[in-house]
Amino acid sequence: MGGSLAGLPAPVVVVVVVVLLLLLPPPLCSSSRSLSASEFSRADFPPDFVFGAGTSAYQVEGAVNEDGKGPSIWDTFTHAGKVIDGSTADVTADGYHHYKGDVKLMSEIGLEGYRFSISWSRLLPSGRGVVNTKGVEYYNNLINELVNHGIQPHVTIYHLDLPQALEDEYQGWLSPKIVDDFVAYADLCFREFGDRVSYWTTINEANILAIGAYDNGVLAPGRCSYPFGIFNCTAGNSTVEPYIAEHNVLLAHAAAAELYRTKYQAIQKGSIGINVYTFGFYSRTNTTADLEATRRAIDFWVGWVLDPLVFGDYPKSMKKMVGSKIPSITDSQSKQLKGSIDFIAINYYASLYVSNDPAPKRGLEDFNGDFIPSVIPIDPIGLESCLLYLKDTYGNLPVYIHENGIPTGYNVTLDDTVRINATKSYIGGILSAIRRGANTRGYFIWSLLDVFELLTGYQTRFGLYFVDFEDKNRTRKPKLSALWYRDFLMKTNELKAI
Ligand SMILES: *[C@@H]1O[C@H](CO)[C@@H](O)[C@H](O)[C@H]1NC(C)=O
Ligand SMILES: *[C@@H]1O[C@H](CO)[C@@H](O)[C@H](O)[C@H]1NC(C)=O
Ligand SMILES: *[C@@H]1O[C@H](CO)[C@@H](O)[C@H](O)[C@H]1NC(C)=O
Ligand SMILES: *[C@@H]1O[C@H](CO)[C@@H](O)[C@H](O)[C@H]1NC(C)=O
Ligand SMILES: *[C@@H]1O[C@H](CO)[C@@H](O)[C@H](O)[C@H]1NC(C)=O
Ligand SMILES: *[C@@H]1O[C@H](CO)[C@@H](O)[C@H](O)[C@H]1NC(C)=O
Repeated sequence: MGGSLAGLPAPVVVVVVVVLLLLLPPPLCSSSRSLSASEFSRADFPPDFVFGAGTSAYQVEGAVNEDGKGPSIWDTFTHAGKVIDGSTADVTADGYHHYKGDVKLMSEIGLEGYRFSISWSRLLPSGRGVVNTKGVEYYNNLINELVNHGIQPHVTIYHLDLPQALEDEYQGWLSPKIVDDFVAYADLCFREFGDRVSYWTTINEANILAIGAYDNGVLAPGRCSYPFGIFNCTAGNSTVEPYIAEHNVLLAHAAAAELYRTKYQAIQKGSIGINVYTFGFYSRTNTTADLEATRRAIDFWVGWVLDPLVFGDYPKSMKKMVGSKIPSITDSQSKQLKGSIDFIAINYYASLYVSNDPAPKRGLEDFNGDFIPSVIPIDPIGLESCLLYLKDTYGNLPVYIHENGIPTGYNVTLDDTVRINATKSYIGGILSAIRRGANTRGYFIWSLLDVFELLTGYQTRFGLYFVDFEDKNRTRKPKLSALWYRDFLMKTNELKAI
């Protein structure tokens, strides 16, 4: 990992290392209070709980110019050399051509669900208007293959890969024009695939979308302003754009959810939710200042997305601190936002210690305004506490863990015992949360295969299956973790049969 950062100036390395800490293989949390693996099996979970794995369109598909796909902002971003290892996902795991074999691999390890996303610019190359029938055909084939193997499709409509045409036309998420285009795209997805898809997530990592793309600039389109960006951006405004983008994200979600509910839900009988990136949050000390900073951190990370969708407005602490930079939610917007999720989906990789920033840059705050986070990787108790927090705060809506995973280095091939150990402890944390009343309904490991990673390119691997990126065939091989997951899932099937 260290080697991959050589060549960047020291201050950049420091900041990048902080971001990448989220992705480093950490020491295992030996003091875990959650259940140890020998204390549970698949059979301890409700039968309708879903265990799966996931990918996203840009990260797994490749075939970026094939069969009529239009460019997305990630094609532009990677081709401008913005990812640490200079890589792109032009081919990546070549999932577009391997979908049949990949569904077979899922089936071989007994996956119950597959979480993937649809590429907007594969369906609508210009973002709106003419539909690319080859794109529709590809997702129909993939969904049919899954259904034929008894694997539930859990579909994310938008996973960070906006059609470049909409970025060029009106700056994408910064414009309220995005709402109508997103709804039309979602309508197309519900219409074409909704007869077989029961789990729809509108937006992946609704909060990271705004922070990564408009505050620190690490995600496409990479906008930020000095001194907040990790790289110096050529355009952007870190102190205001994240709030504007998030506002449009939430309105787009709510409008798509309303459409689904009025036009499709009664017939298709599915559910619709949103995905938020979350941590377990710990106060660094028990001083009032740190406890309040922790409260604010939770509001800024989680409440920013979920409060409007459950209660109809942004958290009070955010409105107070961000002032006029956060757009106001009007009464009619509030009505549409409130109650617009059937479930909450989270991506969880780490916990944070939070302390108060005694010297906030008043007037020049970005999203991280006045709390100082530090990362604790692999923390099953943090995941458990997060699930309990969602239960207590948002009326115990169903929760799916859409992503949770462990990075290993590029040269770690099939022996990923570290992944097995961590996954076991996370699953123990989830079971413990369920036993304490959390309405947790599913767990998807990130990722099914090694894929292009948005922050690290090919430097890190998260897959249950190894992908040989140096082989033109992109050959897949099961890692030890895939075999472990198979045993965990299959044992239950035997139990069920008895
Ligand atoms: C970013 O800009 C600042 C101020 O102009 C400069 O000091 C710094 O070296 C630049 N960093 C990079 C990575 O270019
Ligand atoms: C960002 O926008 C705010 C509000 O319009 C403005 O006061 C500030 O100067 C802008 N910052 C940059 C870096 O353009
Ligand atoms: C804060 O207080 C709680 C409850 O008394 C305790 O469990 C926790 O360990 C304390 N945290 C710190 C960082 O001292
Ligand atoms: C992987 O191993 C090769 C051969 O030992 C080495 O040259 C390369 O730098 C390693 N790559 C990474 C990303 O660690
Ligand atoms: C995985 O867990 C086992 C059993 O607790 C332990 O012996 C082993 O050292 C761990 N391996 C890694 C790579 O963490
Ligand atoms: C790649 O696939 C071709 C055609 O199926 C096959 O002939 C070749 O041996 C494969 N190469 C590797 C490295 O597996």
